[in-house]
Amino acid sequence: MGKEVNILGIETSCDETAAAVVADGHIIKSSVVASQVELHEKYGGVVPEIASRAHIEKLYPVLSEAIEQAELEKDDIDAVAVADRPGLVVALIIGVTTAKTLALAWKKPLIAINHVHAHLQSAMMEKANLDLPAVALIVSGGHTNLYECDTPLDLKLLGSTIDDAAGEAFDKVATILHLPYPGGPSIEKAAEKGNPKAIDFPRSMLEAGSLDFSFSGIKTAVLYHCHGQDMKGQDKVPSMSQQEIADIAASFQAAVVDVLLAKTKLAADRLNAKTVLLGGGVAANLSLRKALERMCEQAGRTLLVAPKPYCTDNAVMVASLAYYKYKAGQFADLTLEPKARG
Ligand code: KG4
Ligand code: ZN
Repeated sequence: MGKEVNILGIETSCDETAAAVVADGHIIKSSVVASQVELHEKYGGVVPEIASRAHIEKLYPVLSEAIEQAELEKDDIDAVAVADRPGLVVALIIGVTTAKTLALAWKKPLIAINHVHAHLQSAMMEKANLDLPAVALIVSGGHTNLYECDTPLDLKLLGSTIDDAAGEAFDKVATILHLPYPGGPSIEKAAEKGNPKAIDFPRSMLEAGSLDFSFSGIKTAVLYHCHGQDMKGQDKVPSMSQQEIADIAASFQAAVVDVLLAKTKLAADRLNAKTVLLGGGVAANLSLRKALERMCEQAGRTLLVAPKPYCTDNAVMVASLAYYKYKAGQFADLTLEPKARG
């Protein structure tokens, strides 16, 4: 067996500052994530300038800790990988500039990683060789994408959201319900005590056979439910009982899960998929995991889900995917610039 390939991964695309060292694409030697939740909480969403400033402050200690935890010297690192897209450019630029500087100073190759593809890698890491064909659902705060995937580097986009991402809908509905940020976990928690059939929120499927998603309609439906049709009434949420809020959360969650399940099943049926993968922040949601589990069980498909700590943003997924680019000789140069879109 040859020497291990150790890759240092850096992630600063949104509101998590993260660094990790992963060997050979799957041996996690360290993973450090500094969350900025408390900084953005009072605004109910990520404020780009605040995120950027926090990445500047946190990246150096996060990187030092990741290298220390991995018990490696810089000479043992074979490459530096960084998420360069998609995301907030003012946030991405901190990771990209740091990665370029380290690559130059340490004389190591630089690897650019697509953040959304990296989310998929978190699910792929679970198994060395996929039973093909495989379909992947990546659901995060910024993206809702369906892919056909053969290998970590061979992904074909089948469908994506035409408006809000699934996680964004969770975050916006949590704000409507006056639930704490980030919205996904708050809605999931509130929904535990609610009746998912209490309110029949719309399930937007777009035209027949479409693998695209739309979540802005359901967000508006929740808004009208709470403020009256066309926003003509007052905000009723402050006077609602805990049970009423739980019912709205559960009914909203059920509608989003129904749509995600239906589209993933449609893609999997169409491709006759043997494997289904699930990743991204919303993949932490238990009712989504269970719905896909049931669908795969009934159809005799293998479901691979990103482990919970690697559903939301982290650098393990960046360093892991980078291993495949390293082996394929797909390196970036020092002209690398962050990009808002992937
Ligand atoms: O992947 P991620 O950390 O960041 C992006 O790349 O966007 O995803 C964050 C998103 C947020 O919208 C958050 O509300 C959602 O994932 N999320 C959840 C859950 N945990 C996080 N959504 C539903 N249920 C959860 N348990
Ligand atoms: Zn993400």
